[in-house]
Amino acid sequence: MQKKYHIIVFGCQMNYADAERVAAVLEKMGYKKTLKLEEAGLVAVIMCSIRQSAVDRIHWLIEKFRKIRNLQPNSYRLQTILTGCILEKDKKVFIEGFDHVIDIKNISQLPKIMNKKSSLHKIDDRPNSATMDYLDIKPKSFSKFSSSVPIMTGCNNFCAYCVVPYTREREISRPASKIINEIKSLVKSGCKEIWLLGQNVNSYKDPKNKTTFAELLKKINKIPGDFWIRYTSSHPKDFKQDVIDAMADLPAKASAKAEGNHITPYLNLPVQSGDDKVLRSMKRWYTIKQYRKIISDLRKKIPNIAISTDIIVGFPGETKTQFNNTVKLFKDIKYDMAYINKYSPRSGTTAAKLKDSVSWPEKKRREKILTDTLRETAFKNNKKLIGKIVKVLIDNKKDDTYFGKTDTYKSIKISTFAKASVDKQKSKTKNKNLIGQFYNVKIIKANNWNLEGKII
Ligand code: 5AD
Ligand code: SF4
Repeated sequence: MQKKYHIIVFGCQMNYADAERVAAVLEKMGYKKTLKLEEAGLVAVIMCSIRQSAVDRIHWLIEKFRKIRNLQPNSYRLQTILTGCILEKDKKVFIEGFDHVIDIKNISQLPKIMNKKSSLHKIDDRPNSATMDYLDIKPKSFSKFSSSVPIMTGCNNFCAYCVVPYTREREISRPASKIINEIKSLVKSGCKEIWLLGQNVNSYKDPKNKTTFAELLKKINKIPGDFWIRYTSSHPKDFKQDVIDAMADLPAKASAKAEGNHITPYLNLPVQSGDDKVLRSMKRWYTIKQYRKIISDLRKKIPNIAISTDIIVGFPGETKTQFNNTVKLFKDIKYDMAYINKYSPRSGTTAAKLKDSVSWPEKKRREKILTDTLRETAFKNNKKLIGKIVKVLIDNKKDDTYFGKTDTYKSIKISTFAKASVDKQKSKTKNKNLIGQFYNVKIIKANNWNLEGKII
């Protein structure tokens, strides 16, 4: 049987960036990618540990692998690898269900590891250098037009609820020169959207020349070509005026044809809670007053910026009054999007020692209240865009409808061309794949969670 691999990714964009490096290593070993699990001789799973539900999915997968193996002839046995964000204690559990459990930072050692009998691999565990080495693997991009470039790994913040500092260890920034070279090569190959990734990009610092995140944005902005830069995640305690200034000075041009500035007017700024006391107990180290000031400074300098946030509802001890402070913050900030999470206790974190005091139904109730509030503000914000012409990166097509994202990271459905340009555009785009290209789109309708428009 031909050597085929199938890759399963759970979790955040960092895990997808990791998966692209795992894929690159496997392809170098002679494996070809298959989208069908049943066809694969090797399955690589990139796991997420942020919530217990993500960990539970791995148990479910192990059962699935067992069923597949039962149907396979004795001479042939599916190989399985687990990597990604894994807690030390889970590595010991999952080695029972996988052939190899390997730290992502050791992924370049995979060819050596595959020749060994099943084990939990602790090869080359030099903490810092090994972590950085794996980011130097040239990724096998899953998309031709949208890619992620990790600018740092790990996290030093130890927010009370979060496993990331335990699974990804301490924060290390990549040299700016390597980041810039990777971006240049992506742009050369036609990439249109590049996400700069890190657990806390605002604390980025080049290990040698101390380039800050704002300075990195400025350097990237000098790269010629027609592409967008987005970034995630930010931490309000480290989000300073220099980044606001860099974003304001280097905005991506509104027109599809325009080249030059690349930084898009979109920011995900996780607040986690709208209550100072809860923030303190989460160990977030900023106040709501400081958070509001960042948002108002951003809006003053970048009036069209779209803002999203991350929230945890039902953190241990969160009272109804404290939760209502989050609702108030939502009403005041008028977010464009929010990723609302129900608190999930994670072993090893400081919050795990606190009583998970908010019941599951109450967490669900709080989640619904915030979703309802968000729906209203997102819809109002979207309505303001009707009639405007925005630059859109088309990323999908179903039947005759195209889908894409605006510079402000809003989803948009494009059903038709504007009347005046129907013939011109139709002949221009006939038999042409619009996916992965920028177009100017006139917004004709606003919905709660997306926009509708016509290519002009
Ligand atoms: N429970 C629920 N949500 C969590 N997050 C991180 N840890 C937890 C947890 N234990 C959320 C935070 C973070 C996002 C990536 O996941 O909101 O910003
Ligand atoms: Fe987790 Fe906090 Fe680090 Fe983000 S900043 S990865 S929430 S510990």
